[in-house]
Amino acid sequence: MGREFASAAARWCHLLDMPARPELVAVCDKNPSILDWYKSNFSSIRQYTDDYRTLLANQDVDAVYCAVPHNLHEEIYCAIIKSSKHLMGEKPFGIDLKANSAIMAELRRHPSVFARGSSEFPFFPAVQRIATMIEKSAFGQVIEVNAAFLHSSDLDPTKPINWKRMVEINGEYGVMGDLGMHVCHVPFRAGWIPKNVRAILSDIVKERPDGKGGKVPCRTWDNATLLCETIDPISGELFPMTLKTQRIAPGEKNTWRIEIFGTKASARFSTKNPKCLEIMEYHGKEQVWQRMDVGYEPAFKTITGGIFEFGFTDAILQMWAAFIYEMVEGKSLQKFAACVTPAETAISHKLFTAALTSHAGKVVGSVLEV
Ligand SMILES: NC(=O)c1ccc[n+]([C@@H]2O[C@H](COP(=O)([O-])OP(=O)(O)OC[C@H]3O[C@@H](n4cnc5c(N)ncnc54)[C@H](O)[C@@H]3O)[C@@H](O)[C@H]2O)c1
Repeated sequence: MGREFASAAARWCHLLDMPARPELVAVCDKNPSILDWYKSNFSSIRQYTDDYRTLLANQDVDAVYCAVPHNLHEEIYCAIIKSSKHLMGEKPFGIDLKANSAIMAELRRHPSVFARGSSEFPFFPAVQRIATMIEKSAFGQVIEVNAAFLHSSDLDPTKPINWKRMVEINGEYGVMGDLGMHVCHVPFRAGWIPKNVRAILSDIVKERPDGKGGKVPCRTWDNATLLCETIDPISGELFPMTLKTQRIAPGEKNTWRIEIFGTKASARFSTKNPKCLEIMEYHGKEQVWQRMDVGYEPAFKTITGGIFEFGFTDAILQMWAAFIYEMVEGKSLQKFAACVTPAETAISHKLFTAALTSHAGKVVGSVLEV
Protein backbone atom coordinates (compact mmCIF):
# COMPACT_ATOMS: atom_id res chain seq x y z
CA MET A 1 0.00 0.00 0.00
CA GLY A 2 2.98 2.30 0.54
CA ARG A 3 3.79 2.01 -3.16
CA GLU A 4 0.15 2.75 -4.03
CA PHE A 5 0.49 6.07 -2.19
CA ALA A 6 3.85 6.80 -3.83
CA SER A 7 2.31 6.18 -7.24
CA ALA A 8 -0.62 8.49 -6.45
CA ALA A 9 1.78 11.22 -5.31
CA ALA A 10 3.74 10.76 -8.55
CA ARG A 11 0.67 11.62 -10.61
CA TRP A 12 -0.54 14.52 -8.49
CA CYS A 13 -0.58 16.59 -11.69
CA HIS A 14 -3.72 14.58 -12.53
CA LEU A 15 -5.62 16.62 -9.94
CA LEU A 16 -6.81 20.18 -10.49
CA ASP A 17 -7.25 22.98 -7.93
CA MET A 18 -5.46 21.24 -5.07
CA PRO A 19 -4.19 23.49 -2.26
CA ALA A 20 -1.01 21.43 -1.76
CA ARG A 21 1.12 18.69 -3.28
CA PRO A 22 2.74 15.86 -1.31
CA GLU A 23 6.46 15.36 -1.78
CA LEU A 24 7.92 11.97 -0.91
CA VAL A 25 11.07 12.73 1.09
CA ALA A 26 11.61 9.67 3.31
CA VAL A 27 10.77 5.98 3.21
CA CYS A 28 11.00 3.32 5.87
CA ASP A 29 10.63 -0.42 5.27
CA LYS A 30 12.26 -3.48 6.77
CA ASN A 31 12.44 -5.09 3.33
CA PRO A 32 15.43 -3.78 1.30
CA SER A 33 13.95 -4.89 -2.03
CA ILE A 34 10.96 -2.58 -1.43
CA LEU A 35 13.37 0.31 -0.85
CA ASP A 36 15.00 -0.48 -4.22
CA TRP A 37 11.66 0.12 -5.95
CA TYR A 38 11.45 3.60 -4.39
CA LYS A 39 15.10 4.32 -5.27
CA SER A 40 14.54 3.56 -8.92
CA ASN A 41 11.36 5.66 -9.17
CA PHE A 42 11.68 8.76 -6.91
CA SER A 43 14.45 11.33 -7.02
CA SER A 44 12.74 13.41 -4.29
CA ILE A 45 13.50 10.84 -1.54
CA ARG A 46 16.40 11.96 0.64
CA GLN A 47 16.15 9.37 3.43
CA TYR A 48 15.94 5.57 3.31
CA THR A 49 15.79 3.64 6.55
CA ASP A 50 14.61 0.38 8.08
CA ASP A 51 13.96 2.05 11.46
CA TYR A 52 10.83 4.21 11.79
CA ARG A 53 12.43 6.13 14.69
CA THR A 54 15.06 7.50 12.30
CA LEU A 55 12.34 8.65 9.92
CA LEU A 56 10.38 10.31 12.75
CA ALA A 57 13.50 12.28 13.74
CA ASN A 58 13.60 13.78 10.24
CA GLN A 59 12.54 17.45 10.41
CA ASP A 60 11.62 17.45 6.72
CA VAL A 61 8.79 14.97 7.30
CA ASP A 62 5.43 16.66 7.97
CA ALA A 63 3.11 13.67 7.60
CA VAL A 64 3.49 9.89 7.61
CA TYR A 65 1.52 7.22 5.79
CA CYS A 66 1.89 4.09 7.89
CA ALA A 67 0.90 0.84 6.15
CA VAL A 68 2.31 -1.98 8.27
CA PRO A 69 0.93 -5.27 9.66
CA HIS A 70 -1.79 -4.80 12.28
CA ASN A 71 0.31 -5.90 15.31
CA LEU A 72 2.54 -2.84 14.71
CA HIS A 73 -0.22 -0.21 14.43
CA GLU A 74 -0.34 0.78 18.10
CA GLU A 75 3.42 1.13 18.56
CA ILE A 76 4.18 2.96 15.32
CA TYR A 77 1.01 5.13 15.11
CA CYS A 78 1.56 6.29 18.72
CA ALA A 79 5.20 7.09 17.94
CA ILE A 80 4.15 9.10 14.87
CA ILE A 81 1.59 11.06 16.89
CA LYS A 82 4.11 11.70 19.70
CA SER A 83 6.54 13.08 17.10
CA SER A 84 3.78 15.62 16.18
CA LYS A 85 3.71 14.49 12.56
CA HIS A 86 0.36 14.12 10.81
CA LEU A 87 -0.81 10.55 10.26
CA MET A 88 -2.61 8.61 7.57
CA GLY A 89 -3.08 5.25 9.23
CA GLU A 90 -4.29 2.02 7.72
CA LYS A 91 -7.19 -0.02 8.95
CA PRO A 92 -8.01 -1.43 11.37
CA PHE A 93 -6.18 1.41 13.17
CA GLY A 94 -4.92 -0.88 15.94
CA ILE A 95 -5.00 -4.67 16.07
CA ASP A 96 -7.83 -4.66 18.63
CA LEU A 97 -9.99 -2.38 20.78
CA LYS A 98 -7.24 -1.95 23.39
CA ALA A 99 -4.69 -0.90 20.77
CA ASN A 100 -7.20 1.45 19.13
CA SER A 101 -7.99 3.02 22.53
CA ALA A 102 -4.25 3.63 23.09
CA ILE A 103 -3.98 5.36 19.69
CA MET A 104 -7.09 7.45 20.44
CA ALA A 105 -5.60 8.47 23.83
CA GLU A 106 -2.34 9.53 22.14
CA LEU A 107 -4.35 11.63 19.67
CA ARG A 108 -6.18 13.35 22.54
CA ARG A 109 -2.76 14.24 24.03
CA HIS A 110 -1.67 15.75 20.69
CA PRO A 111 -4.65 17.73 19.34
CA SER A 112 -2.51 19.49 16.71
CA VAL A 113 -1.93 16.18 14.89
CA PHE A 114 -4.23 15.60 11.92
CA ALA A 115 -4.98 11.88 11.74
CA ARG A 116 -7.15 9.96 9.33
CA GLY A 117 -7.65 6.38 8.21
CA SER A 118 -7.54 4.90 4.74
CA SER A 119 -10.64 3.70 2.83
CA GLU A 120 -10.87 4.38 -0.89
CA PHE A 121 -14.11 2.85 -2.18
CA PRO A 122 -16.43 5.75 -1.20
CA PHE A 123 -14.52 7.83 -3.74
CA PHE A 124 -15.98 5.96 -6.71
CA PRO A 125 -18.16 8.56 -8.47
CA ALA A 126 -21.30 6.39 -8.22
CA VAL A 127 -20.81 6.18 -4.44
CA GLN A 128 -20.38 9.95 -4.31
CA ARG A 129 -23.79 10.21 -6.04
CA ILE A 130 -25.30 7.94 -3.37
CA ALA A 131 -23.62 10.15 -0.77
CA THR A 132 -25.35 13.21 -2.21
CA MET A 133 -28.66 11.34 -1.91
CA ILE A 134 -27.90 10.56 1.74
CA GLU A 135 -27.02 14.21 2.42
CA LYS A 136 -30.31 15.34 0.85
CA SER A 137 -32.27 12.74 2.87
CA ALA A 138 -33.51 11.42 -0.49
CA PHE A 139 -34.01 7.87 0.80
CA GLY A 140 -36.78 8.89 3.22
CA GLN A 141 -36.92 6.53 6.18
CA VAL A 142 -34.20 3.93 5.82
CA ILE A 143 -35.66 0.41 5.60
CA GLU A 144 -32.49 -1.65 5.16
CA VAL A 145 -28.77 -1.23 4.32
CA ASN A 146 -26.47 -3.99 3.08
CA ALA A 147 -22.75 -3.36 2.62
CA ALA A 148 -20.19 -5.97 1.63
CA PHE A 149 -16.56 -6.43 0.69
CA LEU A 150 -15.88 -9.79 -0.90
CA HIS A 151 -12.67 -11.55 -1.96
CA SER A 152 -12.12 -15.10 -3.13
CA SER A 153 -8.33 -15.43 -3.14
CA ASP A 154 -8.47 -17.65 -0.04
CA LEU A 155 -10.75 -20.16 -1.78
CA ASP A 156 -7.53 -21.83 -2.93
CA PRO A 157 -6.42 -24.08 -0.02
CA THR A 158 -2.91 -24.36 -1.53
CA LYS A 159 -2.31 -20.62 -1.03
CA PRO A 160 0.48 -20.34 1.56
CA ILE A 161 -0.26 -18.60 4.84
CA ASN A 162 0.78 -14.95 5.23
CA TRP A 163 0.51 -12.43 8.09
CA LYS A 164 -3.13 -11.55 7.29
CA ARG A 165 -4.08 -15.16 8.12
CA MET A 166 -2.20 -15.26 11.46
CA VAL A 167 -4.12 -14.24 14.58
CA GLU A 168 -1.01 -12.89 16.34
CA ILE A 169 -0.23 -10.45 13.47
CA ASN A 170 -3.60 -9.77 11.83
CA GLY A 171 -5.60 -9.95 15.08
CA GLU A 172 -8.59 -11.85 16.51
CA TYR A 173 -10.94 -9.95 14.20
CA GLY A 174 -9.67 -11.97 11.21
CA VAL A 175 -11.35 -10.79 8.03
CA MET A 176 -13.16 -7.99 9.89
CA GLY A 177 -9.84 -6.35 10.78
CA ASP A 178 -8.70 -6.59 7.20
CA LEU A 179 -11.86 -5.64 5.27
CA GLY A 180 -14.27 -4.34 7.92
CA MET A 181 -13.54 -0.61 7.82
CA HIS A 182 -14.17 -0.63 4.08
CA VAL A 183 -17.82 -1.59 4.63
CA CYS A 184 -18.30 0.67 7.67
CA HIS A 185 -17.05 3.94 6.17
CA VAL A 186 -20.16 5.07 4.25
CA PRO A 187 -22.73 3.83 6.82
CA PHE A 188 -20.86 5.40 9.75
CA ARG A 189 -20.46 8.71 7.87
CA ALA A 190 -24.20 8.60 7.18
CA GLY A 191 -24.75 8.34 10.93
CA TRP A 192 -25.93 4.73 10.72
CA ILE A 193 -24.25 3.51 13.89
CA PRO A 194 -25.07 -0.06 14.99
CA LYS A 195 -26.78 -0.36 18.35
CA ASN A 196 -26.08 -4.07 18.51
CA VAL A 197 -24.88 -6.96 16.38
CA ARG A 198 -25.65 -10.62 15.75
CA ALA A 199 -22.54 -12.12 14.14
CA ILE A 200 -21.75 -15.35 12.36
CA LEU A 201 -18.03 -15.89 11.76
CA SER A 202 -16.63 -18.73 9.66
CA ASP A 203 -13.22 -20.40 9.70
CA ILE A 204 -13.46 -22.33 6.43
CA VAL A 205 -9.84 -23.23 5.64
CA LYS A 206 -8.38 -24.44 8.94
CA GLU A 207 -4.79 -25.04 7.83
CA ARG A 208 -2.55 -23.70 5.08
CA PRO A 209 0.85 -24.46 3.56
CA ASP A 210 3.63 -22.76 5.49
CA GLY A 211 5.62 -22.09 2.31
CA LYS A 212 8.34 -24.51 3.48
CA GLY A 213 6.71 -27.81 2.52
CA GLY A 214 4.64 -28.19 5.71
CA LYS A 215 1.20 -27.09 6.96
CA VAL A 216 0.26 -24.75 9.80
CA PRO A 217 -3.07 -23.98 11.47
CA CYS A 218 -4.97 -21.01 9.96
CA ARG A 219 -7.13 -19.73 12.82
CA THR A 220 -8.32 -16.41 11.45
CA TRP A 221 -11.98 -15.89 10.57
CA ASP A 222 -12.31 -16.17 6.79
CA ASN A 223 -15.83 -14.74 6.54
CA ALA A 224 -17.97 -12.56 8.76
CA THR A 225 -21.65 -11.68 8.47
CA LEU A 226 -22.84 -9.00 10.88
CA LEU A 227 -26.52 -8.23 11.23
CA CYS A 228 -26.77 -4.93 13.03
CA GLU A 229 -29.77 -3.19 14.53
CA THR A 230 -29.09 0.38 13.50
CA ILE A 231 -30.69 3.72 14.32
CA ASP A 232 -31.70 6.00 11.47
CA PRO A 233 -30.73 9.44 12.84
CA ILE A 234 -33.43 11.16 10.78
CA SER A 235 -36.48 9.06 11.62
CA GLY A 236 -35.14 7.75 14.94
CA GLU A 237 -36.36 4.31 13.86
CA LEU A 238 -34.33 1.09 13.97
CA PHE A 239 -33.45 -0.73 10.74
CA PRO A 240 -31.43 -3.87 9.90
CA MET A 241 -27.97 -3.37 8.39
CA THR A 242 -25.83 -6.26 7.22
CA LEU A 243 -22.08 -5.79 6.97
CA LYS A 244 -20.49 -8.70 5.18
CA THR A 245 -16.74 -9.22 4.84
CA GLN A 246 -15.52 -12.37 3.16
CA ARG A 247 -12.15 -13.68 2.05
CA ILE A 248 -13.83 -16.78 0.66
CA ALA A 249 -16.64 -15.54 -1.57
CA PRO A 250 -16.63 -17.75 -4.68
CA GLY A 251 -16.69 -15.70 -7.87
CA GLU A 252 -15.73 -12.42 -6.22
CA LYS A 253 -12.28 -10.95 -6.86
CA ASN A 254 -12.48 -7.64 -4.97
CA THR A 255 -16.13 -6.65 -4.84
CA TRP A 256 -17.20 -3.69 -2.67
CA ARG A 257 -20.90 -3.03 -2.76
CA ILE A 258 -23.65 -1.16 -1.02
CA GLU A 259 -27.46 -1.29 -1.16
CA ILE A 260 -29.73 1.20 0.54
CA PHE A 261 -33.49 0.70 0.64
CA GLY A 262 -35.66 3.60 1.79
CA THR A 263 -39.31 4.60 1.77
CA LYS A 264 -38.71 7.32 -0.86
CA ALA A 265 -35.75 5.96 -2.82
CA SER A 266 -33.37 3.02 -3.03
CA ALA A 267 -29.90 2.72 -4.56
CA ARG A 268 -27.30 0.05 -5.21
CA PHE A 269 -23.72 0.00 -6.44
CA SER A 270 -21.02 -2.63 -6.83
CA THR A 271 -17.42 -2.31 -8.01
CA LYS A 272 -18.14 -5.41 -10.12
CA ASN A 273 -19.78 -3.01 -12.56
CA PRO A 274 -17.99 0.16 -11.50
CA LYS A 275 -19.75 2.80 -13.57
CA CYS A 276 -23.26 1.44 -13.10
CA LEU A 277 -25.46 3.10 -10.51
CA GLU A 278 -28.96 1.78 -9.91
CA ILE A 279 -31.58 4.02 -8.38
CA MET A 280 -35.28 3.62 -7.72
CA GLU A 281 -37.35 6.62 -6.74
CA TYR A 282 -40.77 5.87 -5.33
CA HIS A 283 -43.51 8.40 -5.87
CA GLY A 284 -46.45 6.23 -4.83
CA LYS A 285 -47.08 4.36 -8.09
CA GLU A 286 -44.76 2.17 -10.17
CA GLN A 287 -41.46 0.95 -8.74
CA VAL A 288 -38.92 1.23 -11.55
CA TRP A 289 -35.19 0.64 -11.14
CA GLN A 290 -33.10 2.97 -13.32
CA ARG A 291 -29.56 2.07 -14.39
CA MET A 292 -27.19 4.85 -15.32
CA ASP A 293 -23.56 5.02 -16.35
CA VAL A 294 -21.65 7.33 -14.04
CA GLY A 295 -18.55 8.61 -15.79
CA TYR A 296 -15.31 10.07 -14.43
CA GLU A 297 -17.00 12.53 -12.07
CA PRO A 298 -15.00 12.35 -8.83
CA ALA A 299 -15.25 14.76 -5.91
CA PHE A 300 -11.79 16.21 -6.54
CA LYS A 301 -11.54 17.59 -10.08
CA THR A 302 -9.03 16.00 -12.43
CA ILE A 303 -7.83 16.40 -16.01
CA THR A 304 -9.78 13.30 -17.13
CA GLY A 305 -12.91 13.87 -19.19
CA GLY A 306 -16.26 12.95 -17.67
CA ILE A 307 -17.05 10.19 -20.20
CA PHE A 308 -14.13 7.99 -19.19
CA GLU A 309 -13.92 5.07 -16.75
CA PHE A 310 -12.87 5.33 -13.10
CA GLY A 311 -10.93 2.58 -11.29
CA PHE A 312 -9.12 1.46 -8.12
CA THR A 313 -6.01 3.63 -8.55
CA ASP A 314 -8.25 6.63 -9.25
CA ALA A 315 -10.05 5.98 -5.96
CA ILE A 316 -6.67 5.85 -4.19
CA LEU A 317 -5.70 9.19 -5.76
CA GLN A 318 -9.02 10.75 -4.68
CA MET A 319 -8.57 9.43 -1.13
CA TRP A 320 -5.15 11.03 -0.96
CA ALA A 321 -6.56 14.26 -2.36
CA ALA A 322 -9.11 14.16 0.48
CA PHE A 323 -6.38 13.63 3.09
CA ILE A 324 -4.14 16.43 1.80
CA TYR A 325 -7.08 18.80 1.26
CA GLU A 326 -8.42 18.36 4.79
CA MET A 327 -4.95 18.49 6.37
CA VAL A 328 -4.19 21.80 4.65
CA GLU A 329 -7.65 23.45 4.61
CA GLY A 330 -8.75 22.32 8.07
CA LYS A 331 -12.05 20.96 6.74
CA SER A 332 -13.14 18.33 4.26
CA LEU A 333 -14.26 19.24 0.74
CA GLN A 334 -17.55 17.40 1.30
CA LYS A 335 -18.92 15.22 4.06
CA PHE A 336 -18.40 12.00 2.09
CA ALA A 337 -15.32 13.13 0.14
CA ALA A 338 -13.26 12.61 3.25
CA CYS A 339 -11.11 9.93 4.87
CA VAL A 340 -12.10 7.79 7.84
CA THR A 341 -11.85 9.69 11.14
CA PRO A 342 -10.20 8.17 14.22
CA ALA A 343 -13.61 8.33 15.95
CA GLU A 344 -15.05 6.16 13.17
CA THR A 345 -12.27 3.61 13.64
CA ALA A 346 -13.16 3.53 17.37
CA ILE A 347 -16.78 2.67 16.51
CA SER A 348 -15.58 -0.05 14.14
CA HIS A 349 -13.52 -1.59 16.96
CA LYS A 350 -16.55 -1.59 19.27
CA LEU A 351 -18.53 -3.27 16.51
CA PHE A 352 -15.92 -5.96 15.71
CA THR A 353 -15.32 -6.65 19.42
CA ALA A 354 -19.08 -7.00 19.94
CA ALA A 355 -19.20 -9.31 16.89
CA LEU A 356 -16.58 -11.62 18.45
CA THR A 357 -18.67 -11.73 21.66
CA SER A 358 -21.85 -12.33 19.69
CA HIS A 359 -20.39 -15.20 17.72
CA ALA A 360 -18.67 -16.85 20.70
CA GLY A 361 -21.77 -16.80 22.91
CA LYS A 362 -24.43 -16.99 20.17
CA VAL A 363 -25.81 -13.79 21.73
CA VAL A 364 -26.65 -10.26 20.65
CA GLY A 365 -23.47 -8.17 21.02
CA SER A 366 -23.95 -4.64 22.30
CA VAL A 367 -22.06 -2.02 20.25
CA LEU A 368 -23.05 1.43 21.49
CA GLU A 369 -22.66 0.37 25.13
CA VAL A 370 -19.25 -1.39 24.77
N1 LIG B 1 -6.66 0.54 1.90
C1 LIG B 1 -6.57 -0.63 1.32
O1 LIG B 1 -7.23 -0.93 0.32
C2 LIG B 1 -5.62 -1.65 1.86
C3 LIG B 1 -5.25 -2.75 1.08
C4 LIG B 1 -4.34 -3.67 1.61
C5 LIG B 1 -3.83 -3.49 2.88
N2 LIG B 1 -4.22 -2.41 3.62
C6 LIG B 1 -3.67 -2.19 5.00
O2 LIG B 1 -2.35 -1.69 4.84
C7 LIG B 1 -1.54 -2.20 5.91
C8 LIG B 1 -0.38 -2.95 5.29
O3 LIG B 1 -0.91 -3.96 4.45
P1 LIG B 1 -0.16 -4.39 3.09
O4 LIG B 1 -1.10 -5.22 2.30
O5 LIG B 1 0.46 -3.20 2.46
O6 LIG B 1 0.96 -5.34 3.74
P2 LIG B 1 2.36 -5.79 3.14
O7 LIG B 1 2.77 -6.98 3.92
O8 LIG B 1 2.28 -5.89 1.65
O9 LIG B 1 3.29 -4.54 3.46
C9 LIG B 1 3.68 -4.24 4.78
C10 LIG B 1 5.06 -3.60 4.69
O10 LIG B 1 5.44 -3.24 6.01
C11 LIG B 1 6.85 -3.51 6.10
N3 LIG B 1 7.17 -3.63 7.52
C12 LIG B 1 6.89 -4.64 8.37
N4 LIG B 1 7.36 -4.37 9.60
C13 LIG B 1 7.94 -3.15 9.54
C14 LIG B 1 8.59 -2.30 10.49
N5 LIG B 1 8.75 -2.69 11.78
N6 LIG B 1 9.07 -1.13 10.06
C15 LIG B 1 8.94 -0.75 8.78
N7 LIG B 1 8.33 -1.50 7.83
C16 LIG B 1 7.84 -2.68 8.21
C17 LIG B 1 7.03 -4.81 5.33
O11 LIG B 1 8.38 -5.01 4.96
C18 LIG B 1 6.12 -4.58 4.14
O12 LIG B 1 6.79 -3.98 3.05
C19 LIG B 1 -2.45 -3.04 6.78
O13 LIG B 1 -2.92 -2.26 7.85
C20 LIG B 1 -3.58 -3.42 5.85
O14 LIG B 1 -4.80 -3.69 6.54
C21 LIG B 1 -5.08 -1.48 3.12
